[in-house]
Amino acid sequence: MTDATGSTFASLAARQRVVPVLTIGDADILPGLIGALRDGGVTCIEITLRTPTAIDHLRRIVGEHPDLCVGAGTVLDARQWDAAERAGAHFMVSPCATPGLFARARESALPWLPGVQTASEVAVALEHGYRLLKFFPAEAAGGVRTLVSLAPVFREARFCPTGGVDASNVADYLELASVSWVAGSWLTPPALVAAGAWPAISERVRAVVTCAPDSMSR
Ligand code: 3PG
Repeated sequence: MTDATGSTFASLAARQRVVPVLTIGDADILPGLIGALRDGGVTCIEITLRTPTAIDHLRRIVGEHPDLCVGAGTVLDARQWDAAERAGAHFMVSPCATPGLFARARESALPWLPGVQTASEVAVALEHGYRLLKFFPAEAAGGVRTLVSLAPVFREARFCPTGGVDASNVADYLELASVSWVAGSWLTPPALVAAGAWPAISERVRAVVTCAPDSMSR
């Protein structure tokens, strides 16, 4: 994916409906991990801001892989937004949607995926003009059943379920018309990453990331 503008999310949903979420501590794994994901067909990733070095990793990945769409995840406040934007993030993802984040997002040209879990949170996000929403933590919040209940009420909302999505339920989420894409960490298990099992990770991601809606095995 080359565009990092407002069309990023639309492009993403059309081309890659499963986005790997990476929480990276050790810089040494970066070349192997990003190489494995790319070999597996990944064009978009999300780097969570959950480690002290996350911003540095994000900056490095953006610099070394200009054709990769790189989002910043776990963006909790304006300060983190600023740092991620300066590092070159192409989009922002938050597990929540606070007044401070709505205000910061309004000032930025970058696309933002606000986090919601309840009907009221969906309504507030829609009031602010956001119809594409991160549903988090998806499984703990009722998973597919909750989305099936929310969809007819909030017909314009589209969701990106994250949190507890894995190989056992990813197809169920992608089958929903209200789901644009899913994201999660299950494609890069810590044990495989620690072992440097890059071909195994490529294989895992290849099996799902390039699935178009029609070709996803159900
Ligand atoms: C996120 O940051 O988006 C989620 O915590 C990822 O959830 P997972 O680790 O359950 O996939």
